[in-house]
Amino acid sequence: MLTRYFLLVGIGAFGFAVGCAGTLDDPDRFRPDAEAAPVATATPAPAASCGDVEVSIVRLRCSSCHGATGGTAGLDLETPGVLARLADKRTVDGTARLVVKGNAESSALFTKLGKTPPFGSRMPTGTPLSDSDIACVKAWIDAAQ
Ligand code: HEC
Repeated sequence: MLTRYFLLVGIGAFGFAVGCAGTLDDPDRFRPDAEAAPVATATPAPAASCGDVEVSIVRLRCSSCHGATGGTAGLDLETPGVLARLADKRTVDGTARLVVKGNAESSALFTKLGKTPPFGSRMPTGTPLSDSDIACVKAWIDAAQ
């Protein structure tokens, strides 16, 4: 009789353990949109509205050094039409192009903004652009035709 009692308790405990197997170690698993969640990338998505990138980011943050006349590295980021003017122009060291329309990752105007620029210093020297500004520059160049 006693044996049977322990047997029942044993089965009950086993059933309890199995029945409560669901833990919330990974709560994302239970969210219906987990699959669609954006994968973290080096550059965050651009802000909903970037505005006029050439004026509000490039001219504002870059033209103090890269002015219309005698800009550092011969680079004029002040005169309007930046993308058209710099498209396919080579950097001073010749290793990259300043702007490749539709391809920010191949454009020094974008790659120089990151933490590890392919050559020289991160732009602008001093306080870097915010992540969302960098994302806006990327979207701007990627959208150029
Ligand atoms: C405080 C001065 C300063 C500011 C502001 C500045 N730059 Fe520069 N920039 C430099 C200097 C110095 C160099 C040359 C050394 C180097 O490449 O790191 C340079 C070089 C560059 C080059 C490479 C040009 C070439 O042909 O080799 C690019 C592209 C560039 N800057 C983009 C930018 C952008 C985009 C901004 C604004 C977001 C910016 N810079 C703001 C000083 C500045």
